[in-house]
Amino acid sequence: MAVPFVQGWDLVQTLGEGAYGEVRLLVNRQTEEAVALKVINTSQAKECSENVRKEICVHKMLSHPNVVRFFGQRKEGHTVYLFLEYCSGGELFDRIEPDVGMPEKDAHRFFLQMIAAVEYLHSVGITHRDIKPENILLNDKDDLKLSDFGLATVFRFKGKERLLSRLCGTLPYVAPELLSQREYKAQPADIWACGIVLTAMLAGELPWDQPTESCQEYSDWLQKKTFLTPWKKIQPMPLSLLSKLLAASPNARITIADIQKDRWFTQGELRDPLSSVGNKSLRSDVGLSSRSSSDDRMQFSSSQPDLAAVGLEALLVGQPGGQVSFSQPTKPEHMLLGSQLLCTPGASQSPWQRLVRRMTRFFTTVNADASLSSLKDTCESLALGFKLTCTKQVTVSTQDKRNNKLIFKVYLLDMNQRVMLDFRLSKGDGLEFKRLFVKIKQKLGDIVSTQKILLPLN
Ligand code: ADE
Repeated sequence: MAVPFVQGWDLVQTLGEGAYGEVRLLVNRQTEEAVALKVINTSQAKECSENVRKEICVHKMLSHPNVVRFFGQRKEGHTVYLFLEYCSGGELFDRIEPDVGMPEKDAHRFFLQMIAAVEYLHSVGITHRDIKPENILLNDKDDLKLSDFGLATVFRFKGKERLLSRLCGTLPYVAPELLSQREYKAQPADIWACGIVLTAMLAGELPWDQPTESCQEYSDWLQKKTFLTPWKKIQPMPLSLLSKLLAASPNARITIADIQKDRWFTQGELRDPLSSVGNKSLRSDVGLSSRSSSDDRMQFSSSQPDLAAVGLEALLVGQPGGQVSFSQPTKPEHMLLGSQLLCTPGASQSPWQRLVRRMTRFFTTVNADASLSSLKDTCESLALGFKLTCTKQVTVSTQDKRNNKLIFKVYLLDMNQRVMLDFRLSKGDGLEFKRLFVKIKQKLGDIVSTQKILLPLN
């Protein structure tokens, strides 16, 4: 998709892609301020433009430190541009190690911030309806920012609450009443999703595909079999909170007011001498892309102007006739590349450079043909579907351990006489994708470069 440039702002790179379009990073040439530009193509479906209109309508009324700020929007034909707060720390997903999770202390801090965001949303009568780690971003200080309001809706207006009936969200995160009742209450459903996110943070896995009794893992939970995984990996205090968050009956489920009184929730700084949120050097070198794919959703959707950022006004003020004026092309050489380098923030990097990182990529030590052939052999050895979809693009498809489709693309990028393999999830569970990425990277060990790459900055 050709995305034009706005005067004084460079399009630096794509941050994420999804069914709706993509999110790009815009950086002000002079001030180096960054904003995320969400580009939505509404030409596909008529309901898409209606979803986007609603997303804008909801998002622009929100203002909270744990909610991604909405700066403004522009429309050009069928393309809608949303200007959003840039979250340089990437997705919460990137902090979850498959089958492990993250230090409890970090999960605790993120959970407190997630609840602050949800409490705020509910206080203004909005429900998010698609809370999951892919929709939770982090800024440069590792502060949590709830994002993507594509499925959000008003559940309380002028003090009057309504029940919801639209089946939406992402199956492993949806509350059981959505699948068993015609109508459901908004707040308990968001709280349930927070419980699933907390489980993912503490155990590195999702407890079930969907909360129906036909799902063995869910029926085990109903029978309180906490000696099974993922529950056996979780300490008694957070597990006690989880049992209240993941109460099957929405009426019995804990409220935000009571979450705030929970023992684990209220405990002060958790002690964990080995790690802390923000200590990036301790993080494992695995991660998920800044994917915003909504392919796995049951119902698809895409995602107060505070113009404090100098120059942002210029971005949003259109030319006569609603045209944005566009300037010079991207300067990719402005970017630092290489996940290795970007994991170790250096003084020479500005904040946006430091954190323009995606962890599911690496450089190889061989040329493109040899990289491709090694990748093909590795995929075949793992019985993965391997298809060359373009000269420099491979589509890999398989099924995860729950027999769900898992599809991702590998882009081969020639850079400074080196080849980068960039893995991007197209469809499926992000944690499974990450597990498989780690496996492939290990198998390709011989050709994975450990050298740090720095491209010159002009
Ligand atoms: N991916 C999707 N939205 C984003 C944002 N606001 N900042 C960074 N990455 C993103």
